Amino acid sequence: MHITPEQNAALTRSGPGTPMGRLFRSYWIPALLASELAEPDGAPVRVTLLSEKLVAFRDSQGRLGLVDEFCAHRGVSLWFGRNEESGLRCPYHGWKYEVTGQCVEVPSEPADSGYCERIALKAYPLLDRGGVLWTYMGDPATQPPEPAHDWATLPAGQVYASKRIQRCNWLQAMEGGLDSIHSSFLHRYSVGEDPLLKRDPVSAALLKGDPRPVFIPAESPGGLYIATRRNAGDEQHYWRVTQWLMPCFNLFPPYAGNPHGGHAWVPIDDESCWTFSVDYHPDRALSDAELQAMHEGCGIHAQLQPGRFTPLAHQGNDYLMDRQAQTARLTFSGVRSIPIQDAAIQESMGPVEDRSRENLVSTDNGIIKTRLRLLNALQGLEQGLLPPGRDASQQRQRAFSAVQPKAMKLAEVVALAAAGAAEPAEAAQDASGRPA
Ligand code: FES
Ligand SMILES: [Fe+2]
Repeated sequence: MHITPEQNAALTRSGPGTPMGRLFRSYWIPALLASELAEPDGAPVRVTLLSEKLVAFRDSQGRLGLVDEFCAHRGVSLWFGRNEESGLRCPYHGWKYEVTGQCVEVPSEPADSGYCERIALKAYPLLDRGGVLWTYMGDPATQPPEPAHDWATLPAGQVYASKRIQRCNWLQAMEGGLDSIHSSFLHRYSVGEDPLLKRDPVSAALLKGDPRPVFIPAESPGGLYIATRRNAGDEQHYWRVTQWLMPCFNLFPPYAGNPHGGHAWVPIDDESCWTFSVDYHPDRALSDAELQAMHEGCGIHAQLQPGRFTPLAHQGNDYLMDRQAQTARLTFSGVRSIPIQDAAIQESMGPVEDRSRENLVSTDNGIIKTRLRLLNALQGLEQGLLPPGRDASQQRQRAFSAVQPKAMKLAEVVALAAAGAAEPAEAAQDASGRPA
């Protein structure tokens, strides 16, 4: 599949009025972390999403608001506003707005003039789910049901979310997350020691047993199953199935008892995005040790600059490149930590990769299919069709690994896993503890 410059533009531009902008505005998407608006009357937060400048706040009653950043009077940034008495007050002339965007006070005008009733800021809803505040920026008439992603419906103790800013277009960041083969190169030497990503001996042997996996993407109800299939002896296959969910979510399978992982890549503008990284366990609370590791920037979480969402290692300091560590095989790329390795490599492609110049191979099948699914959804939108992946039934997906007889096709393996009956890798070993 060859991507034309026109298709590349359609896939990567998400501002108001663009095709991809309309697609993103068909879903609930992560806007910020719940911890950023923890307190009523706390500091408002600037939020740029899909090239729209907004400000988020939690009012005195705990209600959440996401409104136009700029005051309707003369355009002052409401980030400077006073968040008090159930509203956000512009510091310039005191106009005050509710979480709905409705102006409730214009102090210079007579109270009975009714002037303020005619003034409202653009406003979007915010929902607190899975440690993340989600927004829907589309037509209220076609607002989808609340997000039902695997991690978005769990109790607080079972999920941990972080975010970091990434200085490149959302699609090349997401394509990194769907390109599982890169783990064998870019992240080599880095996963073995990581407390959240370390591989159990059985899985490690299965991975090593077949270094040339087959990549099989297949449509799921709301995205894609992106499977890698390895030979596990003569009789069986070792499957690892990543889930991609429209438009910007992935879930990848854990090893043994590690937490599950997932991401959301949300455009800030066309040349930067938020990478939300989520760890969760569907069946138990995350342990103190796991939470501490996540907080310290292990696994898929990055070490950040104090009070900011910019990583400590970034483009401006060459991601703290360590050539000696690269030579000594402590890291494959010379960059430490998994999310920074991803950021460095993806940002190195430039703000928006020119996909018309690529030379794709079979391990890019998942990415190719993702682009096609997105392009088809754009075409559907043009014809008035709502895109897939908006309903709870389509969002309730989980990544998994399984060892199954070779005769079994991906659809059957997926059906077994959905029924909770797929055989996990740990079980597929003989009495000696070696992989079967
Ligand atoms: S600019 Fe906001 S009140 Fe005047
Ligand atoms: Fe990666």
